[in-house]
Amino acid sequence: MTAAPDLAKPAGQAADRRISQRLGGIAASATLAIDARAKAMRASGRPVIVFGTGEPDFPTPAHIVAAAEAACRDPRFHHYTPASGLPELRTAIAEKTHHDTGLPATAAQVVVTNGGKQALYNAFAAILDPGDEVLLPAPYWTTYPETISLAGGTVVEVRTDESTGYLASLEQLEAARTPRTRALVFVSPSNPTGAVYPAAEIEAIGRWAVEHGVWVVTDEIYQDLRYGAAAEGRYPSMPVLVPELADRCIVVNGVAKSYAMTGWRVGWLIGPPDVAAAAGNLQSHGSSNVCNVAQAAALAALTGPQDAVETMRQSFDRRRQTMTRMLTEIAGVTCPEPLGAFYCYPSVGALLGRDLGGHRVESSAELAELLLEEIEIAVVPGEAFGTPGYLRLSYALGDDDLVEGITRLQRLVAGSD
Ligand SMILES: Cc1ncc(COP(=O)(O)O)c(C=O)c1O
Repeated sequence: MTAAPDLAKPAGQAADRRISQRLGGIAASATLAIDARAKAMRASGRPVIVFGTGEPDFPTPAHIVAAAEAACRDPRFHHYTPASGLPELRTAIAEKTHHDTGLPATAAQVVVTNGGKQALYNAFAAILDPGDEVLLPAPYWTTYPETISLAGGTVVEVRTDESTGYLASLEQLEAARTPRTRALVFVSPSNPTGAVYPAAEIEAIGRWAVEHGVWVVTDEIYQDLRYGAAAEGRYPSMPVLVPELADRCIVVNGVAKSYAMTGWRVGWLIGPPDVAAAAGNLQSHGSSNVCNVAQAAALAALTGPQDAVETMRQSFDRRRQTMTRMLTEIAGVTCPEPLGAFYCYPSVGALLGRDLGGHRVESSAELAELLLEEIEIAVVPGEAFGTPGYLRLSYALGDDDLVEGITRLQRLVAGSD
Protein backbone atom coordinates (compact mmCIF):
# COMPACT_ATOMS: atom_id res chain seq x y z
CA MET A 1 0.00 0.00 0.00
CA THR A 2 1.40 3.42 -0.87
CA ALA A 3 1.42 6.20 1.70
CA ALA A 4 -1.08 9.02 1.28
CA PRO A 5 0.51 12.02 -0.44
CA ASP A 6 1.65 14.81 1.86
CA LEU A 7 -0.43 17.65 0.46
CA ALA A 8 1.17 20.17 2.80
CA LYS A 9 4.58 19.54 1.28
CA PRO A 10 5.76 22.37 -0.97
CA ALA A 11 5.76 21.33 -4.58
CA GLY A 12 8.82 21.13 -6.69
CA GLN A 13 11.58 20.42 -4.19
CA ALA A 14 12.14 16.70 -4.14
CA ALA A 15 12.41 14.08 -6.83
CA ASP A 16 9.04 12.71 -5.69
CA ARG A 17 7.33 15.98 -6.56
CA ARG A 18 3.71 15.39 -7.41
CA ILE A 19 2.23 18.80 -8.13
CA SER A 20 3.88 21.12 -10.63
CA GLN A 21 5.54 24.26 -9.32
CA ARG A 22 3.09 26.27 -11.38
CA LEU A 23 0.02 24.85 -9.64
CA GLY A 24 1.70 24.08 -6.33
CA GLY A 25 1.99 27.80 -5.66
CA ILE A 26 -1.69 28.55 -6.16
CA ALA A 27 -3.84 29.08 -3.10
CA ALA A 28 -7.51 28.10 -3.03
CA SER A 29 -9.84 31.07 -3.34
CA ALA A 30 -10.15 32.46 0.21
CA THR A 31 -13.50 34.04 -0.55
CA LEU A 32 -14.98 30.80 -1.81
CA ALA A 33 -13.49 28.91 1.16
CA ILE A 34 -15.08 31.25 3.70
CA ASP A 35 -18.35 31.13 1.88
CA ALA A 36 -18.31 27.32 1.90
CA ARG A 37 -17.48 27.22 5.61
CA ALA A 38 -20.23 29.69 6.52
CA LYS A 39 -22.75 27.76 4.46
CA ALA A 40 -21.72 24.51 6.17
CA MET A 41 -22.20 26.16 9.59
CA ARG A 42 -25.65 27.33 8.53
CA ALA A 43 -26.51 23.87 7.32
CA SER A 44 -25.62 22.54 10.77
CA GLY A 45 -28.15 24.93 12.28
CA ARG A 46 -25.99 27.88 13.36
CA PRO A 47 -27.51 31.30 12.55
CA VAL A 48 -24.54 32.55 10.57
CA ILE A 49 -24.98 35.79 8.67
CA VAL A 50 -22.85 35.72 5.57
CA PHE A 51 -21.07 38.91 4.52
CA GLY A 52 -18.50 36.93 2.60
CA THR A 53 -20.33 36.35 -0.62
CA GLY A 54 -19.38 38.05 -3.85
CA GLU A 55 -22.67 37.49 -5.60
CA PRO A 56 -26.10 39.10 -5.79
CA ASP A 57 -28.65 37.45 -3.49
CA PHE A 58 -31.43 37.89 -6.09
CA PRO A 59 -32.60 35.14 -8.43
CA THR A 60 -31.84 35.54 -12.12
CA PRO A 61 -34.65 37.60 -13.76
CA ALA A 62 -37.48 35.41 -15.03
CA HIS A 63 -37.21 36.30 -18.73
CA ILE A 64 -33.58 35.14 -18.73
CA VAL A 65 -34.48 31.85 -17.10
CA ALA A 66 -37.30 31.44 -19.64
CA ALA A 67 -34.83 31.92 -22.50
CA ALA A 68 -32.64 29.18 -21.03
CA GLU A 69 -35.65 26.87 -20.71
CA ALA A 70 -36.50 27.46 -24.36
CA ALA A 71 -32.88 26.81 -25.35
CA CYS A 72 -32.94 23.53 -23.42
CA ARG A 73 -35.84 22.38 -25.58
CA ASP A 74 -34.25 23.52 -28.85
CA PRO A 75 -31.77 20.99 -30.30
CA ARG A 76 -29.85 23.87 -31.84
CA PHE A 77 -28.53 24.54 -28.32
CA HIS A 78 -27.59 20.94 -27.62
CA HIS A 79 -24.31 21.10 -29.50
CA TYR A 80 -20.95 22.84 -29.54
CA THR A 81 -20.78 26.48 -30.44
CA PRO A 82 -17.56 27.96 -31.82
CA ALA A 83 -15.00 27.94 -28.99
CA SER A 84 -15.06 31.73 -28.77
CA GLY A 85 -18.82 31.79 -28.36
CA LEU A 86 -22.25 31.73 -29.95
CA PRO A 87 -21.98 34.14 -32.91
CA GLU A 88 -25.16 36.06 -31.99
CA LEU A 89 -23.96 36.42 -28.40
CA ARG A 90 -20.58 37.79 -29.50
CA THR A 91 -22.41 40.30 -31.67
CA ALA A 92 -24.75 41.23 -28.80
CA ILE A 93 -21.78 41.72 -26.47
CA ALA A 94 -20.05 44.00 -28.97
CA GLU A 95 -23.25 46.01 -29.50
CA LYS A 96 -24.18 46.26 -25.82
CA THR A 97 -20.66 47.32 -24.90
CA HIS A 98 -20.75 49.98 -27.59
CA HIS A 99 -24.13 51.14 -26.36
CA ASP A 100 -23.09 51.25 -22.69
CA THR A 101 -19.57 52.59 -22.89
CA GLY A 102 -18.96 53.77 -26.44
CA LEU A 103 -16.29 51.17 -27.21
CA PRO A 104 -16.39 50.43 -30.95
CA ALA A 105 -15.98 46.65 -30.71
CA THR A 106 -16.69 43.98 -33.31
CA ALA A 107 -17.84 40.41 -32.68
CA ALA A 108 -14.41 39.13 -33.79
CA GLN A 109 -12.85 40.91 -30.83
CA VAL A 110 -15.07 39.10 -28.33
CA VAL A 111 -14.31 35.79 -26.64
CA VAL A 112 -17.12 34.36 -24.52
CA THR A 113 -15.61 32.69 -21.46
CA ASN A 114 -16.62 30.61 -18.47
CA GLY A 115 -17.17 33.68 -16.33
CA GLY A 116 -15.00 36.73 -15.95
CA LYS A 117 -12.43 34.53 -14.24
CA GLN A 118 -11.62 32.61 -17.39
CA ALA A 119 -11.54 35.86 -19.34
CA LEU A 120 -8.84 37.11 -16.97
CA TYR A 121 -6.79 33.96 -17.26
CA ASN A 122 -7.10 33.97 -21.06
CA ALA A 123 -6.14 37.64 -21.17
CA PHE A 124 -3.00 37.20 -19.09
CA ALA A 125 -2.06 34.02 -20.95
CA ALA A 126 -2.40 35.87 -24.25
CA ILE A 127 -0.07 38.76 -23.39
CA LEU A 128 2.39 37.61 -20.70
CA ASP A 129 5.72 35.85 -20.99
CA PRO A 130 7.89 34.71 -18.08
CA GLY A 131 9.51 37.70 -16.43
CA ASP A 132 6.84 40.16 -17.50
CA GLU A 133 5.74 42.33 -14.61
CA VAL A 134 2.12 43.23 -14.00
CA LEU A 135 1.20 46.20 -11.82
CA LEU A 136 -1.60 45.27 -9.48
CA PRO A 137 -3.12 47.87 -7.16
CA ALA A 138 -3.77 46.41 -3.68
CA PRO A 139 -6.17 45.65 -2.07
CA TYR A 140 -6.74 43.35 -5.01
CA TRP A 141 -9.30 40.71 -5.78
CA THR A 142 -7.78 37.31 -4.95
CA THR A 143 -8.02 35.89 -8.46
CA TYR A 144 -5.77 38.49 -10.11
CA PRO A 145 -2.39 37.49 -8.63
CA GLU A 146 -3.08 33.80 -9.12
CA THR A 147 -4.11 34.10 -12.75
CA ILE A 148 -1.16 36.41 -13.47
CA SER A 149 1.27 33.91 -11.92
CA LEU A 150 -0.36 31.00 -13.72
CA ALA A 151 0.19 32.80 -16.98
CA GLY A 152 3.89 33.27 -16.15
CA GLY A 153 3.76 36.91 -15.09
CA THR A 154 5.24 38.51 -11.98
CA VAL A 155 2.91 40.53 -9.78
CA VAL A 156 4.10 43.96 -8.67
CA GLU A 157 1.77 45.28 -5.99
CA VAL A 158 0.90 48.95 -5.79
CA ARG A 159 -0.38 49.42 -2.26
CA THR A 160 -3.26 51.80 -1.56
CA ASP A 161 -5.20 52.48 1.62
CA GLU A 162 -8.27 54.22 2.97
CA SER A 163 -6.53 57.62 3.00
CA THR A 164 -6.99 57.85 -0.79
CA GLY A 165 -10.24 55.88 -0.85
CA TYR A 166 -8.13 52.96 -2.15
CA LEU A 167 -7.34 54.72 -5.42
CA ALA A 168 -3.84 54.22 -6.87
CA SER A 169 -2.24 57.42 -8.09
CA LEU A 170 -0.34 57.95 -11.30
CA GLU A 171 2.76 58.69 -9.22
CA GLN A 172 2.49 55.31 -7.50
CA LEU A 173 2.10 53.50 -10.81
CA GLU A 174 5.05 55.35 -12.29
CA ALA A 175 7.18 54.56 -9.22
CA ALA A 176 6.39 50.85 -9.66
CA ARG A 177 7.10 50.81 -13.41
CA THR A 178 10.30 49.11 -14.61
CA PRO A 179 11.57 48.14 -18.08
CA ARG A 180 9.86 44.78 -17.49
CA THR A 181 6.42 46.26 -16.84
CA ARG A 182 4.12 44.66 -19.36
CA ALA A 183 0.63 45.33 -18.04
CA LEU A 184 -1.56 47.02 -15.47
CA VAL A 185 -4.67 45.49 -13.93
CA PHE A 186 -7.33 48.13 -13.55
CA VAL A 187 -10.69 47.55 -11.89
CA SER A 188 -13.36 50.16 -11.26
CA PRO A 189 -15.69 49.68 -9.40
CA SER A 190 -13.35 47.57 -7.34
CA ASN A 191 -13.68 44.30 -5.58
CA PRO A 192 -12.83 44.33 -2.65
CA THR A 193 -13.00 48.05 -1.87
CA GLY A 194 -15.97 49.37 -3.85
CA ALA A 195 -13.75 52.25 -4.98
CA VAL A 196 -14.64 53.95 -8.26
CA TYR A 197 -12.07 56.00 -10.14
CA PRO A 198 -13.16 59.41 -11.45
CA ALA A 199 -13.11 59.63 -15.26
CA ALA A 200 -10.26 62.17 -15.23
CA GLU A 201 -8.03 59.73 -13.33
CA ILE A 202 -8.96 56.85 -15.60
CA GLU A 203 -8.02 58.95 -18.59
CA ALA A 204 -4.72 60.01 -17.01
CA ILE A 205 -3.83 56.38 -16.27
CA GLY A 206 -4.77 55.39 -19.82
CA ARG A 207 -2.52 58.11 -21.26
CA TRP A 208 0.33 57.02 -19.00
CA ALA A 209 -0.13 53.42 -20.23
CA VAL A 210 -0.03 54.54 -23.86
CA GLU A 211 3.05 56.66 -23.26
CA HIS A 212 4.94 53.71 -21.76
CA GLY A 213 3.59 50.91 -23.96
CA VAL A 214 1.92 49.23 -20.97
CA TRP A 215 -1.03 46.92 -21.64
CA VAL A 216 -4.15 47.43 -19.56
CA VAL A 217 -6.48 44.64 -18.51
CA THR A 218 -9.53 46.58 -17.39
CA ASP A 219 -12.15 44.66 -15.43
CA GLU A 220 -15.55 46.28 -15.96
CA ILE A 221 -17.69 43.57 -14.38
CA TYR A 222 -19.24 45.98 -11.86
CA GLN A 223 -19.94 48.69 -14.43
CA ASP A 224 -23.69 48.75 -13.68
CA LEU A 225 -23.26 48.83 -9.92
CA ARG A 226 -22.28 52.45 -9.26
CA TYR A 227 -23.90 54.76 -6.74
CA GLY A 228 -24.23 58.40 -5.81
CA ALA A 229 -22.14 60.74 -7.93
CA ALA A 230 -20.33 57.74 -9.46
CA ALA A 231 -23.59 56.54 -11.01
CA GLU A 232 -24.00 59.65 -13.12
CA GLY A 233 -23.41 59.42 -16.84
CA ARG A 234 -22.02 56.68 -18.98
CA TYR A 235 -19.56 54.20 -17.52
CA PRO A 236 -16.07 55.66 -18.08
CA SER A 237 -14.21 52.90 -19.92
CA MET A 238 -10.47 53.44 -20.25
CA PRO A 239 -10.12 52.52 -23.95
CA VAL A 240 -12.99 54.88 -24.76
CA LEU A 241 -11.50 57.78 -22.82
CA VAL A 242 -8.12 57.02 -24.42
CA PRO A 243 -8.81 55.50 -27.86
CA GLU A 244 -5.08 55.15 -28.57
CA LEU A 245 -5.00 52.55 -25.80
CA ALA A 246 -7.50 50.24 -27.50
CA ASP A 247 -4.75 48.36 -29.34
CA ARG A 248 -3.16 47.39 -26.01
CA CYS A 249 -6.23 47.02 -23.88
CA ILE A 250 -8.33 44.01 -22.89
CA VAL A 251 -11.78 44.62 -21.42
CA VAL A 252 -13.14 41.93 -19.10
CA ASN A 253 -16.83 41.72 -18.27
CA GLY A 254 -19.70 39.30 -17.78
CA VAL A 255 -23.32 38.83 -16.83
CA ALA A 256 -22.68 37.57 -13.28
CA LYS A 257 -23.03 40.75 -11.24
CA SER A 258 -25.41 42.92 -13.30
CA TYR A 259 -27.98 40.18 -13.90
CA ALA A 260 -27.58 37.98 -10.80
CA MET A 261 -26.14 35.22 -12.99
CA THR A 262 -23.05 34.08 -11.11
CA GLY A 263 -23.90 30.40 -11.46
CA TRP A 264 -24.47 30.53 -15.21
CA ARG A 265 -20.79 31.16 -15.85
CA VAL A 266 -20.81 33.55 -18.77
CA GLY A 267 -18.17 36.22 -19.06
CA TRP A 268 -16.10 37.63 -21.89
CA LEU A 269 -13.08 39.54 -22.96
CA ILE A 270 -12.90 42.14 -25.68
CA GLY A 271 -9.45 42.74 -27.06
CA PRO A 272 -7.54 43.59 -30.21
CA PRO A 273 -8.21 40.93 -32.89
CA ASP A 274 -4.86 39.15 -32.46
CA VAL A 275 -5.38 38.88 -28.70
CA ALA A 276 -8.95 37.67 -29.12
CA ALA A 277 -7.77 35.06 -31.63
CA ALA A 278 -5.00 33.85 -29.31
CA ALA A 279 -7.37 33.69 -26.33
CA GLY A 280 -9.89 31.81 -28.48
CA ASN A 281 -7.20 29.32 -29.52
CA LEU A 282 -6.29 28.70 -25.89
CA GLN A 283 -9.91 28.19 -25.00
CA SER A 284 -10.50 25.86 -27.94
CA HIS A 285 -8.12 23.38 -26.29
CA GLY A 286 -8.69 24.13 -22.62
CA SER A 287 -12.45 24.15 -22.29
CA SER A 288 -14.04 24.86 -25.68
CA ASN A 289 -17.30 26.79 -25.68
CA VAL A 290 -19.21 27.95 -22.62
CA CYS A 291 -22.40 25.92 -22.02
CA ASN A 292 -24.61 26.68 -25.02
CA VAL A 293 -27.78 27.06 -22.93
CA ALA A 294 -26.02 29.49 -20.60
CA GLN A 295 -24.94 31.50 -23.64
CA ALA A 296 -28.59 31.66 -24.74
CA ALA A 297 -29.47 32.97 -21.29
CA ALA A 298 -26.73 35.60 -21.49
CA LEU A 299 -28.04 36.65 -24.91
CA ALA A 300 -31.47 37.21 -23.38
CA ALA A 301 -29.90 39.15 -20.51
CA LEU A 302 -28.07 41.55 -22.84
CA THR A 303 -30.82 42.03 -25.41
CA GLY A 304 -33.93 41.86 -23.18
CA PRO A 305 -35.46 44.36 -20.74
CA GLN A 306 -32.92 45.97 -18.44
CA ASP A 307 -35.18 47.15 -15.60
CA ALA A 308 -34.11 44.34 -13.23
CA VAL A 309 -30.55 45.66 -13.35
CA GLU A 310 -31.70 49.03 -12.03
CA THR A 311 -34.03 47.47 -9.43
CA MET A 312 -31.19 45.39 -8.01
CA ARG A 313 -28.83 48.36 -8.12
CA GLN A 314 -31.25 50.39 -6.02
CA SER A 315 -31.44 47.61 -3.43
CA PHE A 316 -27.66 47.43 -3.25
CA ASP A 317 -27.48 51.20 -2.91
CA ARG A 318 -29.88 51.16 0.05
CA ARG A 319 -27.92 48.40 1.78
CA ARG A 320 -24.63 50.14 0.99
CA GLN A 321 -25.77 53.24 2.82
CA THR A 322 -27.00 51.25 5.82
CA MET A 323 -23.82 49.23 6.09
CA THR A 324 -21.48 52.18 5.67
CA ARG A 325 -23.37 54.18 8.31
CA MET A 326 -23.43 51.31 10.79
CA LEU A 327 -19.75 50.43 10.31
CA THR A 328 -18.71 54.05 10.66
CA GLU A 329 -20.55 54.21 13.99
CA ILE A 330 -18.15 51.61 15.43
CA ALA A 331 -15.23 53.16 17.29
CA GLY A 332 -12.01 51.82 15.78
CA VAL A 333 -13.48 51.10 12.36
CA THR A 334 -12.78 53.40 9.39
CA CYS A 335 -14.85 52.82 6.28
CA PRO A 336 -14.56 55.04 3.21
CA GLU A 337 -17.88 55.26 1.38
CA PRO A 338 -17.86 52.65 -1.37
CA LEU A 339 -19.22 54.04 -4.65
CA GLY A 340 -19.56 50.81 -6.56
CA ALA A 341 -19.83 46.99 -6.55
CA PHE A 342 -21.33 45.56 -3.35
CA TYR A 343 -18.57 45.64 -0.77
CA CYS A 344 -17.46 47.73 2.17
CA TYR A 345 -13.77 47.52 3.02
CA PRO A 346 -13.28 48.93 6.51
CA SER A 347 -9.92 49.33 8.18
CA VAL A 348 -10.01 47.47 11.52
CA GLY A 349 -6.41 47.99 12.62
CA ALA A 350 -7.59 49.81 15.75
CA LEU A 351 -9.50 46.72 16.91
CA LEU A 352 -6.42 44.52 16.88
CA GLY A 353 -4.52 43.82 20.07
CA ARG A 354 -7.39 44.87 22.34
CA ASP A 355 -10.06 43.04 24.26
CA LEU A 356 -13.05 41.99 22.17
CA GLY A 357 -15.65 40.19 24.26
CA GLY A 358 -12.98 38.54 26.34
CA HIS A 359 -10.83 37.68 23.32
CA ARG A 360 -7.81 39.35 21.88
CA VAL A 361 -6.87 39.13 18.21
CA GLU A 362 -3.67 40.27 16.58
CA SER A 363 -4.61 40.16 12.90
CA SER A 364 -7.61 40.68 10.68
CA ALA A 365 -7.48 36.94 9.85
CA GLU A 366 -7.87 36.15 13.55
CA LEU A 367 -10.60 38.77 13.83
CA ALA A 368 -12.56 37.16 10.98
CA GLU A 369 -12.20 33.81 12.75
CA LEU A 370 -13.45 35.32 16.02
CA LEU A 371 -16.43 36.96 14.32
CA LEU A 372 -17.43 33.68 12.74
CA GLU A 373 -17.14 31.64 15.92
CA GLU A 374 -18.34 34.14 18.53
CA ILE A 375 -20.99 36.27 16.83
CA GLU A 376 -21.60 34.09 13.80
CA ILE A 377 -20.94 36.57 11.06
CA ALA A 378 -18.80 35.58 8.08
CA VAL A 379 -16.49 38.24 6.63
CA VAL A 380 -13.35 37.97 4.51
CA PRO A 381 -10.12 39.20 6.13
CA GLY A 382 -7.90 41.69 4.29
CA GLU A 383 -5.15 39.07 4.13
CA ALA A 384 -7.09 37.54 1.21
CA PHE A 385 -6.72 40.80 -0.72
CA GLY A 386 -3.07 41.49 0.03
CA THR A 387 -3.79 44.01 2.79
CA PRO A 388 -3.95 42.70 6.38
CA GLY A 389 -5.74 44.99 8.82
CA TYR A 390 -8.99 45.20 6.86
CA LEU A 391 -12.19 43.23 6.40
CA ARG A 392 -14.36 42.85 3.33
CA LEU A 393 -18.08 42.78 3.95
CA SER A 394 -20.44 42.18 1.08
CA TYR A 395 -23.81 43.91 1.27
CA ALA A 396 -25.37 41.50 -1.21
CA LEU A 397 -27.66 40.06 1.45
CA GLY A 398 -31.12 40.83 2.82
CA ASP A 399 -31.65 44.15 4.63
CA ASP A 400 -32.70 42.54 7.92
CA ASP A 401 -29.76 40.15 8.01
CA LEU A 402 -27.45 43.03 7.21
CA VAL A 403 -28.69 45.10 10.13
CA GLU A 404 -28.68 42.12 12.49
CA GLY A 405 -25.12 41.14 11.53
CA ILE A 406 -23.61 44.60 11.87
CA THR A 407 -25.50 45.09 15.14
CA ARG A 408 -23.78 41.95 16.46
CA LEU A 409 -20.44 43.50 15.49
CA GLN A 410 -21.35 46.82 17.11
CA ARG A 411 -22.29 45.04 20.34
CA LEU A 412 -19.12 42.96 20.38
CA VAL A 413 -16.93 46.04 20.05
CA ALA A 414 -19.03 48.25 22.36
CA GLY A 415 -19.16 45.56 25.05
CA SER A 416 -15.41 45.57 25.10
CA ASP A 417 -14.86 49.29 25.69
C1 LIG B 1 -13.60 42.13 -9.89
C2 LIG B 1 -14.16 40.85 -10.41
N1 LIG B 1 -13.88 40.50 -11.67
C3 LIG B 1 -14.33 39.36 -12.20
C4 LIG B 1 -15.11 38.50 -11.46
C5 LIG B 1 -15.52 37.22 -12.14
O1 LIG B 1 -16.79 36.87 -12.02
P1 LIG B 1 -17.36 35.57 -12.76
O2 LIG B 1 -16.19 34.67 -13.02
O3 LIG B 1 -18.33 35.01 -11.80
O4 LIG B 1 -17.98 36.06 -14.03
C6 LIG B 1 -15.42 38.81 -10.14
C7 LIG B 1 -16.20 37.89 -9.28
O5 LIG B 1 -16.23 37.96 -8.08
C8 LIG B 1 -14.95 40.03 -9.60
O6 LIG B 1 -15.22 40.39 -8.35
